[in-house]
Amino acid sequence: MFSPTPYFKNKEIQSLLNTSKLVSLDLNGLIVDDEPVQVMATNKVFSPYGVTINNEYWITNCVGKNAHKFFEKIIKDFNIDNHPEIKPVKELVSLKNRYYIELIKEKLSTIVREGVLEFIDYINSKVFFRKAIVTSAEPEELEAIAGEKGLNITGLFDILITGADVKKSKPDPEIYLKLIEKSRTAPEFIIAFEDSEAGVKSATKAGIRCIAVPNRFTKLQDFSSATLVISNLTQDAEIIRENNLVITRIKAQKRSNKLREIEKLMAKGNKFLSTRVPIMCGAMTWVSDVHLVRAVNRAGAFGVLASGNMPPEQLESNIDELKKTDKIFGVNLITIAPNFQNHLEIACRKKVSHIIFAGSYPKASEVKKAKDSGAKVLCFAPTQQIADRMVSFGADGIILEGSEAGGHIGPVSTVVLIQQFLFEMREIPIFIAGGIASGKMVLHLLLMGAAGVQMGTRFVLSKECTAHQKFKEAFIRAQARDAMATPQFDSALPVIPVRALKNKGMKNFAKLQLELLKKLEEGKIDRTQA
Ligand SMILES: Cc1cc2nc3c(=O)[nH]c(=O)nc-3n(C[C@H](O)[C@H](O)[C@H](O)COP(=O)(O)O)c2cc1C
Repeated sequence: MFSPTPYFKNKEIQSLLNTSKLVSLDLNGLIVDDEPVQVMATNKVFSPYGVTINNEYWITNCVGKNAHKFFEKIIKDFNIDNHPEIKPVKELVSLKNRYYIELIKEKLSTIVREGVLEFIDYINSKVFFRKAIVTSAEPEELEAIAGEKGLNITGLFDILITGADVKKSKPDPEIYLKLIEKSRTAPEFIIAFEDSEAGVKSATKAGIRCIAVPNRFTKLQDFSSATLVISNLTQDAEIIRENNLVITRIKAQKRSNKLREIEKLMAKGNKFLSTRVPIMCGAMTWVSDVHLVRAVNRAGAFGVLASGNMPPEQLESNIDELKKTDKIFGVNLITIAPNFQNHLEIACRKKVSHIIFAGSYPKASEVKKAKDSGAKVLCFAPTQQIADRMVSFGADGIILEGSEAGGHIGPVSTVVLIQQFLFEMREIPIFIAGGIASGKMVLHLLLMGAAGVQMGTRFVLSKECTAHQKFKEAFIRAQARDAMATPQFDSALPVIPVRALKNKGMKNFAKLQLELLKKLEEGKIDRTQA
């Protein structure tokens, strides 16, 4: 055992180093903390398809995985396999690699891990250490990070092994067996530094001792086969004891168990809607346009195109436009709209995946027509009686909407409808709507037996919603009590109430009703005119 001037203040770490003749370093995640750059490059590849990956998705589905595999998953999860401009996975991955190399040049100085350059200086200053970089990355990536135009450290290493030198990537031991062969060094004299479970497993399976230096993306992985787990590569590095790792892992395990339970609760709705989260963005006339539907679909939820009373040609072209990129979305048809029959014919002919009947309720023959087109049919139900009738008409799912909803509303509150219908009906998926705006509420409704939810107002506030900024600001400024239903003064003049923010329009509508009622009473106009 050599006794060089120590680098690590911790004796246990240093003595492991002292018993080594060859020090091997991993590249990605160990020398540079490049996961954020990987995320950026991946997002740059998918941005033309409207897809953005967040850190949570990245950690769960991408860290330490083969890019081809997780690219396939992204395409499936974000429903873009039908996008007309989607390229083969191989092309997308090589595009990502190109973007990565471009981005790494800009970001390099900010992503070098703490202490790593000092540690490389140290092992370089001790002649008895041979040095290697062992990485699954391609040679171009190694060059961009560690070559002359990067950190300029490759010249300090005796051996460089990259992904191009092996057939199987880590955790397979092939790459470390190659190191043993190339360096002609017995594995017990090699010490490898790795940041990930896959890297540690690869080294230890080859019989090489391995010090794990987890980063923020890998800290929850299983490092039980590592010789030591340490906090970083500075001189003050500390050993992270298995106890602490176990506690962190138990926490992570609990979290993933919870997530699995939530997945189970969401399964029925997700299957029905082909989504990742069973949240429908309820149709909002002139608000739920092609843009919003796409954005909602990309986020893993369910977008619904509002047909309102738009000219039939416009509905047709909207559906055509959406179909260019999305196989699955809803079309909301208002049964009392003058253009309803045309709309229904178009939705059936265009074979949209989900047809949603709203605004009063459809006839049994209309439900049948929609189903015969191959669509899954959802019907709005603002009362228990309508819900029962829609089930008897053959609806595949029900949107149970309470009077807390924005827009046109029924007479019964969400809580009452839940008890009257949701608690009684188990056969078909039920989506709850009206006053829902938080993840907690969604989860509680799933626990109560809902297949999912439909939200409207909350989506108006999204940046992807093209509604006027002032419209959004009015919602943000408003208090809960500022929303009210338009009143009906006399059953002689029935009003389907709209729940909206109190404003001048609301006052004018009330005034108009009173004027019309007066004229009606005086016999100046009849009921139809009124
Ligand atoms: C501005 C606005 C317009 C709406 N337009 C429609 C519509 O055209 N068709 C429909 O079925 N529902 C419509 N709704 C209802 C929504 O689809 C959804 O069911 C409702 O907003 C859910 O309640 P929440 O706003 O409390 O989330 C509208 C809602 C809002 C806020």
